[in-house]
Formats: sequence, structure tokens, C-alpha cells
Amino acid sequence: MTSPLKPRRSVLYMPGSNARALEKAKTLDVDCLILDLEDAVAPDSKAMAREQIVSAVKGGGYGDREVVIRVNGLDTPWGEDDLKAAIEAGPDAVLVPKVNEPADLQRVAHKLVLGQAPASLKLWAMMETPLAMLNAAAIGACGRDPEVRLSCFVMGTNDLAKETRAQLNPGRAVMLPWLMTCLTAARAGGIDILDGVYNAFNDMEGFAAECAQGAEMGMDGKTLIHPKQIEACHEAFSPSEEEIAWARKINDLFDLPENANKGAIQVDGKMVERLHADMGLRAIAIADAIAARSKS
Ligand code: COA
Ligand code: MG
Repeated sequence: MTSPLKPRRSVLYMPGSNARALEKAKTLDVDCLILDLEDAVAPDSKAMAREQIVSAVKGGGYGDREVVIRVNGLDTPWGEDDLKAAIEAGPDAVLVPKVNEPADLQRVAHKLVLGQAPASLKLWAMMETPLAMLNAAAIGACGRDPEVRLSCFVMGTNDLAKETRAQLNPGRAVMLPWLMTCLTAARAGGIDILDGVYNAFNDMEGFAAECAQGAEMGMDGKTLIHPKQIEACHEAFSPSEEEIAWARKINDLFDLPENANKGAIQVDGKMVERLHADMGLRAIAIADAIAARSKS
């Protein structure tokens, strides 16, 4: 990817109808915010939430945090107005719910062009329907199409459980095929992917385990529902000191003249290839981006 690495470890949802949350978000140590107009907002509050979000985003004060507005689908009574409001507000991205196929994103992207949204306004896609699981590769491929401007997948595990009737239990065994399918589709399309939310926000042990699982899968970060979840999330999705030390060590070894012509070397009893050194460079770049963010 050509754009600079952006840490997307912690991505906190908040209902657009909750003015206090929109304000509090300016002080939270979080990488991204999703200001929601969709499932977290009741039908009677949609118009109020839309106005609050526009004025909050226009008012600024969110610093380095990426700001994303989740709109209602274009097939709902609110979708068109939400999209117009999002263009007016100027967030970093618009999150499209319940995407089933590439055409769902293409339609939104076309409306962004008609509404003269800047090219810097990206699309994110909720992956949360049975059709999205079956069409994941085609949807992910939108990441390679500049006209669609897709930059991130967000797993919607609650909707997925509802629509498939699969149960969302600790360990998420039955969800793993979908999570990994979407992860693979995101990587094939060159985009980021965020894990679904953990509903029991007082269960810190269960939450930490699910964060660790998401990090192991290769997720870039996790969507959150409560500020309490931020710290453990950062713990899981930030490269550890040992990882960075190892990354530096193997890169230094490959830089030595005696290793210049080698593709694989032995380090501490393990085979290390140049691809491992490249993976290490990515971890270092993420750690640097996190450090730069926390300084600002
Ligand atoms: N974003 C920002 N601030 C939040 C927040 C969030 N998602 N959730 C809670 N807070 C704030 C509260 O405003 C409160 O702030 P205060 O102490 O300054 O008044 C503080 O954190 C403690 O909140 P708490 O009383 O523990 O939670 P609650 O009972 O008010 O709310 C939820 C619980 C689940 C309703 C709320 O966390 C929430 O709305 N989460 C997001 C839901 C969502 O957007 N879902 C859609 C996608 S799954
Ligand atoms: Mg949903």
C-alpha cells in the first residue's frame, strides 16, 4: 500500500444520538471513531443524530483519531440523507452497513462523486450478511478499484449471528470460517480489516481473550463499544517489545555483508527468511506510527 500506515487497533462505536459520547470521544485514547446512524440509533432519533454528527464532525477537535460515519443503507428511508450529511460533515470515511455485493459499494461511491466528496473520503464496508460471506472475495476486490475507494472491512458479528442463526459463543468456533474468509478477502484486496465487537463490556477476561484471538488471526484491530475496552485492545494489537527487538535483530543480520546473498539464515535455532525480515519491518513501522500518534 502506498498510503502511510495508520494504526487501526481500537475503533470505538458510539450512537450519533449520544451527544455526551460524541464529546467524550475527543479525550479518549483511541485510534478511530465510528459515529453511528444505523443500528445504535432508534428510528425516531435518526434525524437528531444526523444533525449532531454533522455539527460534531464539522466542529472538529478529534485530533489524529480517524473519524468514520456509519450511515443507514440506501434501501432505507434514511440512507440518502445520511450520505448527504456525511459529505457535508467531511469525515475520513463512510461505513456502509449490510453490504451484500460490490454493487452496494459502487452505488454509494457513485453518490459520493455526484455529491462532490473529496477523493480522500474513503468507504468502509460492514461484513455482516450471509451474502457478504459468500461474496467476500468480490467485495474485497473493490479495494483495488480506485472508483470504489474501499479502505477497510468491519466484521459485524452480531448481525451475522442474527442472520445465520449461528451462535456467538466464547472462542467463536463456528464464526472462524467467516472471520478468516473475510480476512483473506481483505488482504487480497489490499485493505484493512477490523474484528467484531465484544458485547459483555464488563467481562475483561473474555474480552482480552477475544482481542488476542483477533490479533492471532491477523486482524488490524477490533471494534469496541465502550471506553473500558480501549486499553486491553491496544495491549493486544500493538507490536510487543520482544517482537520489535526480534524484527530489528533479523533485519540487522540480513544487512550484514556475509548474508547479502542469502535468502535464509539461522537465528537462535530457527530458520529465518527475508520474508520474515519484511514482516518485521511492518511491525516496526506500526510501532513507529503508534509512537508518533501518542506524541501528538
Ligand atoms: N463512546 C464514547 N463514550 C462512551 C461510550 C462509547 N461507546 N460508551 C460509554 N461511554 C461513556 C458514557 O457516556 C459515560 O461517560 P460519563 O461518565 O462521562 O458520563 C462513561 O463512558 C461510562 O458509561 P457507562 O455508564 O458505563 O455506559 P452506559 O450504560 O451509559 O452505556 C452502552 C452502555 C452499551 C449503551 C454504550 O456503551 C454504548 O452506546 N455503546 C456503543 C453502542 C453502539 O454504538 N453500538 C453499535 C455498534 S455494535
Ligand atoms: Mg450491523
